[in-house]
Amino acid sequence: MEVERVSTGCEPLDTLLNGGVEKGVISNFYGESGSGKTNVCIQVAAEVAENGGKVAYIDSEASFSPERFIQIASEDALDNIFLKDVTDFDQQDETIEGLENLVEDKGIDLVVVDSLVSLYRLKVNGDNAQEVNQELSQQLSTLSGLARNYNLPVMITNQVYTSFDEDDIELVGRDVPKYWSKCLVKLSQTDKDVRKARIAKHRSLPEGKEVRFKITDEGLVKDSAGGLF
Ligand code: GTP
Ligand code: MG
Repeated sequence: MEVERVSTGCEPLDTLLNGGVEKGVISNFYGESGSGKTNVCIQVAAEVAENGGKVAYIDSEASFSPERFIQIASEDALDNIFLKDVTDFDQQDETIEGLENLVEDKGIDLVVVDSLVSLYRLKVNGDNAQEVNQELSQQLSTLSGLARNYNLPVMITNQVYTSFDEDDIELVGRDVPKYWSKCLVKLSQTDKDVRKARIAKHRSLPEGKEVRFKITDEGLVKDSAGGLF
């Protein structure tokens, strides 16, 4: 079956992803604070909602801003966003478990979880790591099943940390989100308003492929100043 994609509404990101975010799998956008993870989520949600699609948007950091959204899309499009704020990891569990009902009731076209791991990070400690990792894995399994069964694009974001024994940054949750995400995109800041998006893992796209985009008031646009795209 041919893979279907949903446009991000951002030309360079669509170029990077061969047309947009894939349906049927989890795409993980990770990077440091300020790298643009939330901007990417709002951008894709705005694109889907503006075209009449419905978006289930789980926000664990109170970072979804309706003001920001209507800078990018129309106020009417905001009605297509089903926003759920979650404040602890157990509530995130319940919300993800309840998504299937929402998908059945409303006909959801995109699921966003921004961020998947911030509440995980708050809960996990030396004593409960195994249990909390299991919980994280279960959430990802549910999201993955939902993506597959309803042919939905699922976008998650992931914080990172610097590991001392490695040069690069490491994903919070490490192998658990890496295993479940069929598309991993690393975001980083290259200039004040310019960001780089790089394919870190994908089934059919070359690792290392990258584009630049600019964060503007109107959304994410091509960075005409530099880069290949
Ligand atoms: P964390 O959630 O802290 O991990 O960061 P993030 O990766 O989600 O970064 P986010 O997408 O929030 O990006 C923050 C950047 O977007 C900052 O540099 C802001 O200045 C910029 N930004 C946010 N809103 C606007 C806006 O309306 N206009 C412009 N031009 N930039 C904005
Ligand atoms: Mg954010």
